[in-house]
Amino acid sequence: MSKRIALVTGGTGGIGSEICRKLAEAGHEVVANYLPALQAEAEAWQKQMADEGLNMHIAAGDVSSFSSCEEMIKDIEGRVGPVDILVNCAGITRDKTLRKMEEKQWTDVININLNSVFNVTRHLVEGMTNRGWGRIVNISSVNGQRGQFGQANYSAAKAGMHGFTMAVAQETAAKGVTVNTVSPGYTSTAMTDAMPEDVRNAIVAQVPAGRMGTVQDIAFAVTMLCDEQAGYITGANIPVNGGLFISF
Ligand code: CAA
Repeated sequence: MSKRIALVTGGTGGIGSEICRKLAEAGHEVVANYLPALQAEAEAWQKQMADEGLNMHIAAGDVSSFSSCEEMIKDIEGRVGPVDILVNCAGITRDKTLRKMEEKQWTDVININLNSVFNVTRHLVEGMTNRGWGRIVNISSVNGQRGQFGQANYSAAKAGMHGFTMAVAQETAAKGVTVNTVSPGYTSTAMTDAMPEDVRNAIVAQVPAGRMGTVQDIAFAVTMLCDEQAGYITGANIPVNGGLFISF
């Protein structure tokens, strides 16, 4: 299997960490992006990974800023090399019913969850198509597919990510680059821990698999899409939600 350079945005987060781990275990050189203000936390994360025997690179960059992403990509290309695998995983929630939602709660979620996908991918797509190989995976959500009470901002951003996937998949398919979406269901991380417990329990009670997802469930789907053999899967959305939302 070829060793590739992989960039995971939000790579030090809950799902991001496991994606980094699985890509490193698959033999790739992995760069985890983190928010510049969280450098100490990112260095502690890198040390913890090293203790597990996994050597990770870390790269500071604010994914909501186009210019910050440009600088980050230049830094990665200089220090590590050209990026062949991109996982757009950075994301936040600011849950509120629409009648109470403030403008900042809308724009922060759109900027960090959706505009980020443009801000990062735009700097990498041409290199991938020029080299004739690439894998882009966008981490969306079941709530982008079905909507969620209290998440007009998040549902809009996550649905938008898959629109991006479908368009860019068509632009890059002839050049050896695949673009896909993975849509996790309710997965055990700090993000779902922050939900009101009664609301979380009510949602998990509706999951046919009878449990929340694990970060391993999500990372498995991502690494599968990044595999050399996955070159004919593009423009797809892979739900990993325990049956919570089943559709074509
Ligand atoms: N469906 C219908 N009605 C609902 C409802 C639902 N799912 N949830 C609440 N309501 C009702 C309440 O019963 C209440 O009704 P009354 O006014 O008649 O009493 C009313 O809506 C409450 O509305 P408010 O505007 O006052 O809302 P709130 O301030 O109580 O807070 C909330 C609502 C912030 C949305 C809160 O319920 C919440 O945090 N929900 C969780 C949303 C969620 O699923 N987030 C996912 C986070 S994890 C993630 O996003 C990862 C991923 O990809 C899956």
